[in-house]
Amino acid sequence: MEKTSFRDAQTVTNLQAVIAAARTEKTTTTSDWKQALPVLTGSVVTLRELRISDAMSLLAMLSTEEVARFISPPPTTVEGFERFIAWTHRERAAGNYACFAVVPHGMDTAIGIFQVRQLEPGFGTAEWGFAVGSGFWGTGVFMDGARMVIDFAFDTIHTHRLEARAAILNGRGNGALRKIGAMQEGILRKSFLRNGEYLDQALWTILDEDWKSQRVVWGVRIH
Ligand SMILES: CC(C)(COP(=O)(O)OP(=O)(O)OC[C@H]1O[C@@H](n2cnc3c(N)ncnc32)[C@H](O)[C@@H]1OP(=O)(O)O)[C@@H](O)C(=O)NCCC(=O)NCCS
Repeated sequence: MEKTSFRDAQTVTNLQAVIAAARTEKTTTTSDWKQALPVLTGSVVTLRELRISDAMSLLAMLSTEEVARFISPPPTTVEGFERFIAWTHRERAAGNYACFAVVPHGMDTAIGIFQVRQLEPGFGTAEWGFAVGSGFWGTGVFMDGARMVIDFAFDTIHTHRLEARAAILNGRGNGALRKIGAMQEGILRKSFLRNGEYLDQALWTILDEDWKSQRVVWGVRIH
């Protein structure tokens, strides 16, 4: 899956734009995601734009050993997460990338993230990635958020092919991708450098037509 793009985070240069984006967040429609991400409401979680104030919570949730083990190393300080969050806003404004905060109903701060980045101009092929605090594993948070992010990728940014990469050793990551309906296309040998060691990754994909026909089946499911 996508390596969480923490490593690309840069210095905060445009806090005013970030604050303006946060202010307009609630009124955003799905057609203007580059101005501010839409707020997506599921049965378990809400997905929304990251806020600078999420930094402390994200540090606590994502920098633990069990979460960070198979993803690019997350920031190690609150300030590092603030820079990462500001970077996500700039990349979204540039139309390259979207990063949603995962906020369980009844909470106010982010306990995880879902990311989508374009692999070619126009998002025809895109890559997604995700990380959730381990206290929320196995709770339905992933499935609820994943469905909304995949809908966003296919319906709003018009992705045709959505890729994810997961280290073979990452049982939960691969299990989650299988469960959401992704297809494993192959193994990318020694493709991810982690702690000085090259790891094999599985390449998982979802195509827009497959997702839309699967969604029709879900649509008639009785809950
Ligand atoms: C990836 C992540 C978001 C998934 O969320 P989650 O709440 O753990 O996912 P779920 O519990 O809904 O689904 C995981 C599935 O994998 C299964 N699984 C768990 N360990 C497994 C293993 N060792 N081998 C195979 N499947 C495994 C689970 O049983 C579950 O399937 P089930 O619900 O049918 O039983 C979360 O584990 C996470 O944040 N991990 C750390 C960051 C990360 O690795 N990100 C993904 C990189 S690809």
